[in-house]
Amino acid sequence: MQQGVEHPQVLSLAAGLVDASSLPLTETLEAARSILSDESRGRLALQYGTSLGDLRLRQQLAEYHNRLERTSVPMRTREATADEFVCTTGSQQLLALLADTLLDPGDICLVAAATYFVFLGVLDGVGAHTIALPADEHGLRMDALTAELQRLESVGELSRVKLIYVVSEFENPTGISLSLDRRAELVAIAKDWSRRRGEMIYVLEDAAYRELHYDGSMPRSVWSCDADGDTVIHAGTFSKSFSPGLRVGFGLMPHELRKSINDLKGNQDFGSANFNQHLLAELLASGRFATHAAEVRAAYRLKRDAMLSAADEFFADLSGVSWVHPHGGLYVWMTLPPHVATGFDSPLFRRAVDVEQVMYVPGELCFGGPREQRERNHMRLSFGVQSIDGIREGMRRLNRAVRG
Ligand SMILES: Cc1ncc(COP(=O)(O)O)c(C=O)c1O
Repeated sequence: MQQGVEHPQVLSLAAGLVDASSLPLTETLEAARSILSDESRGRLALQYGTSLGDLRLRQQLAEYHNRLERTSVPMRTREATADEFVCTTGSQQLLALLADTLLDPGDICLVAAATYFVFLGVLDGVGAHTIALPADEHGLRMDALTAELQRLESVGELSRVKLIYVVSEFENPTGISLSLDRRAELVAIAKDWSRRRGEMIYVLEDAAYRELHYDGSMPRSVWSCDADGDTVIHAGTFSKSFSPGLRVGFGLMPHELRKSINDLKGNQDFGSANFNQHLLAELLASGRFATHAAEVRAAYRLKRDAMLSAADEFFADLSGVSWVHPHGGLYVWMTLPPHVATGFDSPLFRRAVDVEQVMYVPGELCFGGPREQRERNHMRLSFGVQSIDGIREGMRRLNRAVRG
Protein backbone atom coordinates (compact mmCIF):
# COMPACT_ATOMS: atom_id res chain seq x y z
CA MET A 1 0.00 0.00 0.00
CA GLN A 2 2.85 2.32 0.90
CA GLN A 3 4.50 1.66 -2.46
CA GLY A 4 1.19 2.44 -4.16
CA VAL A 5 0.83 5.75 -2.30
CA GLU A 6 4.44 6.73 -3.04
CA HIS A 7 4.09 5.91 -6.75
CA PRO A 8 0.57 7.00 -7.75
CA GLN A 9 1.49 7.04 -11.45
CA VAL A 10 2.30 3.33 -11.38
CA LEU A 11 -0.25 0.88 -12.77
CA SER A 12 -1.06 -1.42 -9.88
CA LEU A 13 -1.50 -5.15 -10.23
CA ALA A 14 -0.74 -5.22 -6.52
CA ALA A 15 -3.75 -3.73 -4.77
CA GLY A 16 -6.18 -6.29 -3.42
CA LEU A 17 -9.00 -3.72 -3.45
CA VAL A 18 -12.26 -4.47 -5.17
CA ASP A 19 -13.26 -2.75 -8.41
CA ALA A 20 -14.48 0.77 -7.51
CA SER A 21 -16.92 0.80 -10.43
CA SER A 22 -18.63 -2.31 -9.02
CA LEU A 23 -19.46 -0.73 -5.69
CA PRO A 24 -23.20 -0.88 -4.95
CA LEU A 25 -24.25 2.77 -4.58
CA THR A 26 -27.89 2.34 -5.54
CA GLU A 27 -28.44 -0.83 -3.55
CA THR A 28 -26.91 0.71 -0.41
CA LEU A 29 -28.87 3.93 -0.81
CA GLU A 30 -32.14 2.02 -1.18
CA ALA A 31 -31.39 -0.14 1.88
CA ALA A 32 -30.50 2.94 3.95
CA ARG A 33 -33.67 4.66 2.79
CA SER A 34 -35.89 1.77 3.72
CA ILE A 35 -34.34 1.59 7.21
CA LEU A 36 -34.33 5.32 7.90
CA SER A 37 -37.76 6.04 6.49
CA ASP A 38 -39.25 3.80 9.17
CA GLU A 39 -38.86 5.71 12.41
CA SER A 40 -38.55 2.81 14.85
CA ARG A 41 -36.24 0.81 12.57
CA GLY A 42 -34.13 3.88 11.94
CA ARG A 43 -33.74 4.63 15.63
CA LEU A 44 -32.88 1.02 16.39
CA ALA A 45 -30.22 0.97 13.68
CA LEU A 46 -28.66 4.21 14.92
CA GLN A 47 -28.50 2.97 18.53
CA TYR A 48 -25.73 0.82 20.05
CA GLY A 49 -26.01 -2.82 19.04
CA THR A 50 -24.69 -5.91 20.81
CA SER A 51 -21.22 -7.40 20.62
CA LEU A 52 -22.55 -10.60 19.03
CA GLY A 53 -24.26 -8.54 16.35
CA ASP A 54 -27.80 -7.75 15.25
CA LEU A 55 -30.08 -10.77 15.67
CA ARG A 56 -31.88 -10.16 12.36
CA LEU A 57 -28.52 -10.11 10.59
CA ARG A 58 -27.41 -13.31 12.31
CA GLN A 59 -30.65 -14.98 11.22
CA GLN A 60 -30.03 -13.75 7.68
CA LEU A 61 -26.45 -15.01 7.91
CA ALA A 62 -27.61 -18.47 8.92
CA GLU A 63 -30.01 -18.56 5.94
CA TYR A 64 -27.34 -17.18 3.63
CA HIS A 65 -24.74 -19.70 4.79
CA ASN A 66 -27.18 -22.63 4.56
CA ARG A 67 -28.17 -21.54 1.05
CA LEU A 68 -24.52 -21.52 -0.05
CA GLU A 69 -24.03 -24.97 1.43
CA ARG A 70 -27.14 -26.22 -0.37
CA THR A 71 -25.67 -25.19 -3.72
CA SER A 72 -22.31 -26.81 -2.95
CA VAL A 73 -21.24 -30.39 -3.64
CA PRO A 74 -21.98 -32.72 -2.04
CA MET A 75 -24.94 -31.19 -0.29
CA ARG A 76 -24.42 -29.97 3.25
CA THR A 77 -24.90 -32.19 6.27
CA ARG A 78 -25.22 -29.43 8.87
CA GLU A 79 -27.55 -26.46 9.23
CA ALA A 80 -26.11 -23.31 10.80
CA THR A 81 -28.27 -21.34 13.25
CA ALA A 82 -28.20 -17.67 14.26
CA ASP A 83 -26.78 -18.46 17.69
CA GLU A 84 -23.55 -19.80 16.17
CA PHE A 85 -22.62 -16.48 14.54
CA VAL A 86 -20.67 -13.43 15.64
CA CYS A 87 -20.74 -10.30 13.45
CA THR A 88 -17.38 -8.58 13.18
CA THR A 89 -15.78 -5.51 11.64
CA GLY A 90 -14.70 -7.25 8.45
CA SER A 91 -13.44 -10.79 8.75
CA GLN A 92 -10.06 -9.29 9.61
CA GLN A 93 -11.33 -8.43 13.10
CA LEU A 94 -12.42 -12.02 13.60
CA LEU A 95 -8.98 -13.28 12.56
CA ALA A 96 -7.34 -10.92 15.07
CA LEU A 97 -9.79 -11.79 17.88
CA LEU A 98 -9.19 -15.50 17.31
CA ALA A 99 -5.42 -15.08 17.35
CA ASP A 100 -5.70 -13.13 20.63
CA THR A 101 -8.02 -15.68 22.17
CA LEU A 102 -6.35 -18.89 21.06
CA LEU A 103 -2.65 -18.16 20.88
CA ASP A 104 -0.14 -17.33 23.60
CA PRO A 105 3.42 -16.34 22.69
CA GLY A 106 5.26 -19.41 21.40
CA ASP A 107 2.09 -21.29 20.43
CA ILE A 108 2.07 -22.80 16.97
CA CYS A 109 -0.19 -22.07 14.00
CA LEU A 110 0.16 -24.27 10.91
CA VAL A 111 -0.46 -22.56 7.56
CA ALA A 112 -0.02 -23.25 3.87
CA ALA A 113 2.95 -21.92 1.94
CA ALA A 114 1.92 -19.46 0.60
CA THR A 115 -0.98 -17.80 2.44
CA TYR A 116 -2.73 -14.52 3.34
CA PHE A 117 0.13 -12.29 4.44
CA VAL A 118 -1.93 -10.01 6.66
CA PHE A 119 -2.83 -12.97 8.87
CA LEU A 120 0.87 -13.86 9.06
CA GLY A 121 1.35 -10.37 10.51
CA VAL A 122 -1.44 -10.98 13.03
CA LEU A 123 0.23 -14.23 14.14
CA ASP A 124 3.51 -12.42 14.47
CA GLY A 125 1.82 -9.71 16.51
CA VAL A 126 0.64 -12.18 19.18
CA GLY A 127 4.05 -13.84 19.30
CA ALA A 128 2.84 -17.09 17.72
CA HIS A 129 5.19 -19.38 15.87
CA THR A 130 4.06 -19.93 12.27
CA ILE A 131 4.98 -23.12 10.45
CA ALA A 132 4.44 -23.02 6.69
CA LEU A 133 3.58 -26.37 5.08
CA PRO A 134 3.73 -27.32 1.42
CA ALA A 135 0.65 -26.91 -0.75
CA ASP A 136 -0.05 -28.10 -4.29
CA GLU A 137 -2.80 -27.50 -6.85
CA HIS A 138 -5.32 -29.02 -4.37
CA GLY A 139 -4.28 -26.77 -1.50
CA LEU A 140 -2.54 -27.59 1.77
CA ARG A 141 -1.04 -31.10 1.59
CA MET A 142 -2.49 -33.42 4.19
CA ASP A 143 0.53 -35.74 4.17
CA ALA A 144 2.73 -32.76 5.04
CA LEU A 145 0.32 -31.72 7.80
CA THR A 146 0.36 -35.18 9.36
CA ALA A 147 4.12 -35.45 9.06
CA GLU A 148 4.59 -32.08 10.77
CA LEU A 149 2.25 -33.02 13.62
CA GLN A 150 4.19 -36.26 14.08
CA ARG A 151 7.45 -34.34 14.10
CA LEU A 152 6.15 -31.86 16.65
CA GLU A 153 4.94 -34.70 18.85
CA SER A 154 8.33 -36.42 18.64
CA VAL A 155 10.12 -33.25 19.80
CA GLY A 156 7.59 -32.66 22.59
CA GLU A 157 5.97 -29.63 21.01
CA LEU A 158 2.51 -30.95 20.17
CA SER A 159 1.02 -29.14 23.17
CA ARG A 160 1.98 -25.83 21.52
CA VAL A 161 -0.09 -26.50 18.39
CA LYS A 162 -3.38 -24.61 18.69
CA LEU A 163 -4.51 -23.67 15.21
CA ILE A 164 -4.48 -24.74 11.56
CA TYR A 165 -5.32 -21.84 9.20
CA VAL A 166 -6.57 -22.38 5.65
CA VAL A 167 -7.96 -20.02 3.05
CA SER A 168 -10.36 -22.60 1.67
CA GLU A 169 -11.51 -20.77 -1.47
CA PHE A 170 -9.22 -19.20 -4.07
CA GLU A 171 -6.39 -18.57 -1.65
CA ASN A 172 -4.94 -15.11 -1.42
CA PRO A 173 -2.30 -15.15 -3.00
CA THR A 174 -2.28 -18.41 -5.01
CA GLY A 175 -5.88 -18.62 -6.24
CA ILE A 176 -5.95 -22.31 -5.24
CA SER A 177 -8.87 -23.90 -3.32
CA LEU A 178 -8.67 -26.77 -0.90
CA SER A 179 -10.02 -29.85 -2.69
CA LEU A 180 -13.20 -31.55 -1.52
CA ASP A 181 -11.38 -34.68 -0.28
CA ARG A 182 -8.89 -32.66 1.68
CA ARG A 183 -11.63 -30.70 3.47
CA ALA A 184 -12.94 -33.79 5.22
CA GLU A 185 -9.42 -35.10 5.75
CA LEU A 186 -8.31 -31.84 7.34
CA VAL A 187 -11.14 -31.97 9.88
CA ALA A 188 -10.42 -35.64 10.64
CA ILE A 189 -6.70 -34.90 11.18
CA ALA A 190 -7.47 -31.95 13.49
CA LYS A 191 -9.87 -34.08 15.55
CA ASP A 192 -7.47 -36.99 15.74
CA TRP A 193 -4.55 -34.82 16.87
CA SER A 194 -6.76 -32.86 19.29
CA ARG A 195 -7.46 -36.19 21.00
CA ARG A 196 -3.78 -37.05 21.09
CA ARG A 197 -2.94 -33.60 22.40
CA GLY A 198 -5.70 -33.70 25.01
CA GLU A 199 -6.94 -30.24 23.96
CA MET A 200 -8.46 -28.71 20.87
CA ILE A 201 -6.51 -27.94 17.74
CA TYR A 202 -8.91 -25.66 15.89
CA VAL A 203 -9.18 -25.28 12.14
CA LEU A 204 -9.74 -21.70 10.99
CA GLU A 205 -11.41 -21.72 7.57
CA ASP A 206 -11.01 -18.29 5.98
CA ALA A 207 -13.63 -18.18 3.23
CA ALA A 208 -13.18 -14.52 2.22
CA TYR A 209 -13.46 -15.29 -1.51
CA ARG A 210 -16.24 -17.87 -1.36
CA GLU A 211 -18.73 -15.74 -3.33
CA LEU A 212 -16.22 -14.97 -6.08
CA HIS A 213 -16.33 -18.25 -7.99
CA TYR A 214 -16.32 -18.11 -11.77
CA ASP A 215 -16.55 -21.66 -13.03
CA GLY A 216 -17.40 -25.16 -11.90
CA SER A 217 -19.28 -26.13 -8.79
CA MET A 218 -18.38 -25.05 -5.27
CA PRO A 219 -17.23 -27.61 -2.73
CA ARG A 220 -18.98 -27.72 0.64
CA SER A 221 -17.25 -25.70 3.34
CA VAL A 222 -14.68 -27.18 5.68
CA TRP A 223 -17.10 -26.15 8.44
CA SER A 224 -19.76 -28.49 7.05
CA CYS A 225 -17.35 -31.44 7.38
CA ASP A 226 -17.22 -30.91 11.14
CA ALA A 227 -20.22 -33.01 12.18
CA ASP A 228 -19.68 -32.45 15.94
CA GLY A 229 -19.34 -28.69 15.47
CA ASP A 230 -16.40 -28.40 17.87
CA THR A 231 -13.38 -28.02 15.58
CA VAL A 232 -13.90 -25.60 12.69
CA ILE A 233 -14.28 -21.82 12.76
CA HIS A 234 -15.63 -20.40 9.51
CA ALA A 235 -14.74 -16.76 8.72
CA GLY A 236 -16.82 -14.94 6.10
CA THR A 237 -17.09 -11.41 4.77
CA PHE A 238 -19.15 -9.14 2.52
CA SER A 239 -16.09 -7.11 1.58
CA LYS A 240 -15.31 -8.86 -1.69
CA SER A 241 -18.83 -9.63 -2.85
CA PHE A 242 -20.45 -6.33 -1.83
CA SER A 243 -18.48 -3.52 -0.18
CA PRO A 244 -15.35 -3.48 1.96
CA GLY A 245 -16.31 -0.03 3.22
CA LEU A 246 -19.22 -1.45 5.20
CA ARG A 247 -16.77 -3.66 7.11
CA VAL A 248 -19.25 -6.44 7.75
CA GLY A 249 -17.73 -9.84 8.37
CA PHE A 250 -18.76 -12.79 10.47
CA GLY A 251 -17.62 -15.89 12.25
CA LEU A 252 -19.44 -19.18 12.61
CA MET A 253 -17.89 -21.17 15.42
CA PRO A 254 -18.18 -23.64 18.29
CA HIS A 255 -20.24 -22.33 21.21
CA GLU A 256 -17.56 -22.14 23.90
CA LEU A 257 -15.23 -20.27 21.59
CA ARG A 258 -18.00 -17.90 20.57
CA LYS A 259 -18.41 -16.95 24.20
CA SER A 260 -14.70 -16.06 24.56
CA ILE A 261 -14.74 -14.09 21.31
CA ASN A 262 -17.87 -12.26 22.41
CA ASP A 263 -16.28 -11.31 25.74
CA LEU A 264 -13.13 -10.00 24.07
CA LYS A 265 -15.08 -8.15 21.41
CA GLY A 266 -17.32 -6.61 24.07
CA ASN A 267 -14.23 -5.23 25.79
CA GLN A 268 -12.97 -3.80 22.54
CA ASP A 269 -15.94 -2.19 20.83
CA PHE A 270 -19.37 -3.21 22.30
CA GLY A 271 -20.14 -4.56 18.81
CA SER A 272 -19.39 -3.67 15.20
CA ALA A 273 -21.18 -0.76 13.46
CA ASN A 274 -24.83 -1.44 14.16
CA PHE A 275 -26.13 0.63 11.25
CA ASN A 276 -24.03 -1.31 8.75
CA GLN A 277 -25.35 -4.58 10.14
CA HIS A 278 -28.90 -3.35 9.65
CA LEU A 279 -27.99 -2.40 6.09
CA LEU A 280 -26.62 -5.86 5.38
CA ALA A 281 -29.63 -7.57 6.92
CA GLU A 282 -31.88 -5.47 4.69
CA LEU A 283 -29.77 -6.17 1.60
CA LEU A 284 -29.80 -9.92 2.26
CA ALA A 285 -33.55 -9.99 2.96
CA SER A 286 -34.49 -7.93 -0.11
CA GLY A 287 -32.41 -10.07 -2.48
CA ARG A 288 -30.36 -7.02 -3.57
CA PHE A 289 -27.18 -8.53 -2.18
CA ALA A 290 -27.62 -11.73 -4.20
CA THR A 291 -28.27 -9.80 -7.42
CA HIS A 292 -25.25 -7.61 -6.86
CA ALA A 293 -22.98 -10.55 -6.01
CA ALA A 294 -23.98 -12.24 -9.28
CA GLU A 295 -23.10 -9.07 -11.22
CA VAL A 296 -19.76 -8.76 -9.47
CA ARG A 297 -18.95 -12.40 -10.25
CA ALA A 298 -19.69 -11.87 -13.94
CA ALA A 299 -17.50 -8.74 -14.07
CA TYR A 300 -14.56 -10.37 -12.28
CA ARG A 301 -14.83 -13.48 -14.45
CA LEU A 302 -14.13 -11.26 -17.50
CA LYS A 303 -11.19 -9.66 -15.72
CA ARG A 304 -9.79 -13.03 -14.71
CA ASP A 305 -10.06 -14.14 -18.34
CA ALA A 306 -8.36 -10.93 -19.49
CA MET A 307 -5.43 -11.49 -17.15
CA LEU A 308 -5.04 -15.13 -18.17
CA SER A 309 -5.13 -14.31 -21.87
CA ALA A 310 -2.59 -11.50 -21.34
CA ALA A 311 -0.40 -13.99 -19.45
CA ASP A 312 -0.62 -16.33 -22.46
CA GLU A 313 0.11 -13.49 -24.86
CA PHE A 314 3.13 -12.06 -23.04
CA PHE A 315 4.63 -14.87 -20.98
CA ALA A 316 3.95 -18.18 -22.76
CA ASP A 317 7.30 -18.13 -24.60
CA LEU A 318 9.36 -17.45 -21.45
CA SER A 319 10.90 -20.64 -20.16
CA GLY A 320 10.52 -21.36 -16.47
CA VAL A 321 7.53 -19.02 -16.14
CA SER A 322 4.17 -20.50 -15.09
CA TRP A 323 0.98 -19.32 -13.48
CA VAL A 324 -2.10 -20.68 -11.75
CA HIS A 325 -5.47 -20.56 -13.57
CA PRO A 326 -7.76 -19.59 -10.68
CA HIS A 327 -11.44 -20.56 -10.76
CA GLY A 328 -12.32 -17.60 -8.57
CA GLY A 329 -10.96 -14.88 -6.31
CA LEU A 330 -8.97 -11.85 -7.38
CA TYR A 331 -5.43 -13.09 -8.01
CA VAL A 332 -3.14 -14.83 -10.47
CA TRP A 333 -0.02 -16.34 -8.90
CA MET A 334 2.92 -16.26 -11.27
CA THR A 335 6.14 -18.19 -10.76
CA LEU A 336 9.44 -17.17 -12.35
CA PRO A 337 12.56 -19.33 -12.65
CA PRO A 338 14.03 -20.03 -9.16
CA HIS A 339 16.97 -17.66 -9.61
CA VAL A 340 14.74 -14.63 -10.41
CA ALA A 341 13.94 -12.83 -7.16
CA THR A 342 10.80 -10.68 -7.08
CA GLY A 343 11.12 -8.97 -3.64
CA PHE A 344 11.02 -5.22 -2.93
CA ASP A 345 14.82 -5.12 -2.99
CA SER A 346 15.18 -7.13 -6.22
CA PRO A 347 16.31 -5.65 -9.55
CA LEU A 348 13.03 -6.94 -11.06
CA PHE A 349 10.84 -5.01 -8.62
CA ARG A 350 12.83 -1.81 -9.15
CA ARG A 351 12.69 -2.22 -12.92
CA ALA A 352 8.95 -2.88 -12.78
CA VAL A 353 8.16 0.16 -10.61
CA ASP A 354 10.79 2.71 -11.69
CA VAL A 355 11.13 1.91 -15.38
CA GLU A 356 7.97 0.11 -16.54
CA GLN A 357 5.65 1.70 -13.96
CA VAL A 358 3.80 -1.42 -12.93
CA MET A 359 3.50 -2.95 -9.48
CA TYR A 360 2.84 -6.43 -8.09
CA VAL A 361 2.99 -8.05 -4.65
CA PRO A 362 6.26 -9.94 -4.13
CA GLY A 363 5.42 -13.55 -3.34
CA GLU A 364 7.92 -13.86 -0.49
CA LEU A 365 5.64 -11.74 1.72
CA CYS A 366 3.14 -14.60 1.70
CA PHE A 367 5.39 -17.24 3.24
CA GLY A 368 5.33 -17.87 6.97
CA GLY A 369 8.30 -19.35 8.81
CA PRO A 370 11.98 -18.40 8.68
CA ARG A 371 12.87 -15.69 6.14
CA GLU A 372 15.70 -17.69 4.58
CA GLN A 373 13.34 -20.57 3.71
CA ARG A 374 10.84 -18.41 1.81
CA GLU A 375 10.43 -18.85 -1.91
CA ARG A 376 11.47 -15.63 -3.61
CA ASN A 377 10.43 -16.13 -7.23
CA HIS A 378 6.65 -15.56 -7.21
CA MET A 379 4.40 -12.58 -7.89
CA ARG A 380 0.80 -12.03 -6.83
CA LEU A 381 -1.04 -10.27 -9.64
CA SER A 382 -4.43 -8.81 -8.87
CA PHE A 383 -7.12 -8.33 -11.51
CA GLY A 384 -9.61 -6.69 -9.13
CA VAL A 385 -8.89 -3.00 -9.51
CA GLN A 386 -7.78 -2.40 -13.11
CA SER A 387 -10.04 -2.20 -16.13
CA ILE A 388 -9.71 -4.92 -18.78
CA ASP A 389 -7.46 -2.59 -20.81
CA GLY A 390 -5.47 -1.76 -17.67
CA ILE A 391 -4.93 -5.44 -16.97
CA ARG A 392 -3.52 -6.05 -20.46
CA GLU A 393 -1.34 -2.97 -20.29
CA GLY A 394 -0.09 -3.98 -16.83
CA MET A 395 0.83 -7.45 -18.07
CA ARG A 396 2.58 -5.94 -21.12
CA ARG A 397 4.70 -3.72 -18.85
CA LEU A 398 5.41 -6.57 -16.47
CA ASN A 399 6.57 -8.68 -19.37
CA ARG A 400 9.10 -5.98 -20.33
CA ALA A 401 10.31 -5.80 -16.73
CA VAL A 402 10.75 -9.58 -16.55
CA ARG A 403 12.58 -9.75 -19.88
CA GLY A 404 14.87 -7.00 -18.56
C1 LIG B 1 -7.86 -14.19 2.70
C2 LIG B 1 -8.42 -12.96 3.32
N1 LIG B 1 -9.01 -13.06 4.52
C3 LIG B 1 -9.54 -12.01 5.14
C4 LIG B 1 -9.49 -10.75 4.56
C5 LIG B 1 -10.07 -9.60 5.34
O1 LIG B 1 -11.07 -8.94 4.66
P1 LIG B 1 -12.21 -8.11 5.40
O2 LIG B 1 -11.69 -7.70 6.75
O3 LIG B 1 -12.45 -6.94 4.54
O4 LIG B 1 -13.38 -9.02 5.54
C6 LIG B 1 -8.89 -10.58 3.31
C7 LIG B 1 -8.80 -9.26 2.68
O5 LIG B 1 -8.20 -9.04 1.67
C8 LIG B 1 -8.34 -11.73 2.67
O6 LIG B 1 -7.75 -11.65 1.48
